[in-house]
Amino acid sequence: MKPSRLFALTLLAFSQATLAADWQTLPSQAPAPKDNPTTAAKVALGQKLFLDPRLSATGTVSCNSCHNVMAGGDDNRPVAMGIHGKMGGRSAPTVWNSAFNATQFWDGRAATLEDQAKGPVVADVEMGMTSLDDVVARLRQMPGYATEFKQVFGGKEPITADNMAKAIAAYERTLITPNSPYDRFVKGDRKAMTAQQQRGMQKFAEAGCVACHSGASFNGQNGASAGTFMKFPAVPGSDYEAKYKLNVDLGRYNVTKQDADRNAFKVPTLRNVALTAPYFHNGSVANLDEAVRVMAKTQLGTGLGDADAKDITAFLEALTGEFPAQKMPRLPATPGKSFAY
Ligand code: HEC
Ligand code: HEC
Repeated sequence: MKPSRLFALTLLAFSQATLAADWQTLPSQAPAPKDNPTTAAKVALGQKLFLDPRLSATGTVSCNSCHNVMAGGDDNRPVAMGIHGKMGGRSAPTVWNSAFNATQFWDGRAATLEDQAKGPVVADVEMGMTSLDDVVARLRQMPGYATEFKQVFGGKEPITADNMAKAIAAYERTLITPNSPYDRFVKGDRKAMTAQQQRGMQKFAEAGCVACHSGASFNGQNGASAGTFMKFPAVPGSDYEAKYKLNVDLGRYNVTKQDADRNAFKVPTLRNVALTAPYFHNGSVANLDEAVRVMAKTQLGTGLGDADAKDITAFLEALTGEFPAQKMPRLPATPGKSFAY
C-alpha cells in the first residue's frame, strides 16, 4: 500500500473514532418531569430531607450517609452500610448527575428519581423504616416540616411519601457538575486537558469504550449506544471473573427474569469517577486504573498495556467537574419528645 493511502486510512480511522465518540458537554440544568417542576423552595426542602437522619429507623442514617454530597456523592465503601452496620451487596453510586440517568439503580429497577427516593427509607439494610406510612407519620410530628411542605406543595395534607420523594428528586436535579477539564476542552480550551489526558481521550474512543460510555454523562443515554444495560462481563472467560466475583450478582435479570439480562448492568456515568472508588456494582476493584484494565478485558476482550491504561485513567480524571457549593441547612426541630428509635 502506498504511504499516502495508508496515511489517508489512518486519518479516516482517527476521525471516525473521534466522530463516533460525539463528544458532548454536560448540560448545566437537568430537565424536570411535568408533575414535579424544580423550584427553589422545593429544592431547599429536598436538601433537608436528604440530610436528615431522622428518616431512618435508628435516627442515624441519612441519604447523605451513603451519598456524601460534601464529597463525590458516594461513601467510598465497597458495599454500603446502613442502620446497625448492616451491609447490602452493592456499592453506592454517586448522586451527582444522577438526574442524567435514564433509570436508577445498577439494575435500573427505578424509572425515575422520584420512584427511587422512596426505596432507601424502607430498605432493611439502608434506613430501615418499617413502612412509608411510618416515615410520613414521623415527618408530620415535626412542625417545621409541616410548614415547609405546606409552602411547597399546598393542599390539605401536604406531607405524603410522594411529596417527600418529589422534594428529594428536585434537590438531586441540582446536583450537577459542569465545567470539568474535559468539558472546557470540548468547548475549545485546548489547554484544559494535559497532553496525557488528550492521548487518553483518543484511546478511550479507539479502544471502543465509547460504544457504551457515550453521551454527555458517558452512560450511553444520548449517544449511539444500543442499550442502557450491558452484560458485565460482555466477553466471558477472563481471570477477573473469579478474582472480582463478577458473576455472583445477576443484575438486571433480578428485575426482568429474562435470560438475556443475566449479569447485565446499567452503564454507569463516568463523571467524577476518579472520586468514587471502589468500582463496579460490588465495589470489588479499589483503583481506577485497574477498573480500566478490567473493562478493556471484560467488555472489549482486549488487554491494555500499562501506558494505555494510565492514559485512559488520566482522561477519566479530566471528568471531575465543578461542584456547586452545598450549605448545611438547619433542620426542623424534633418536638419535645423522642421518636421510638
Ligand atoms: C445505606 C446506604 C444508602 C442510603 C442510606 C441511601 N442509599 Fe442510595 N444507594 C445506595 C446503594 C447501595 C445504591 C445502589 C443499589 C442498587 O443498585 O441496587 C443506591 C442507589 C441510589 C441511586 C441511584 C443512582 C444510580 O446511578 O443508579 C440514587 C439516586 C440514590 N441511591 C439516592 C438516595 C436517596 C435519595 C436516599 C435517601 C432517601 C438514599 N439514596 C439513601 C446506598 C444508600
Ligand atoms: C459493552 C459495554 C461497555 C464497554 C465497551 C465499556 N464499558 Fe465500562 N462499564 C460498562 C458497564 C455495564 C459497567 C457497570 C459494571 C458493573 O456492574 O459494575 C461499566 C463500568 C465502568 C467503570 C466503573 C464505574 C463505577 O462507577 O464503578 C469504569 C471506570 C468504566 N466502566 C470504564 C470503561 C472504560 C475505560 C472502557 C474502555 C476500555 C469501558 N468502560 C468500556 C459497560 C461498558
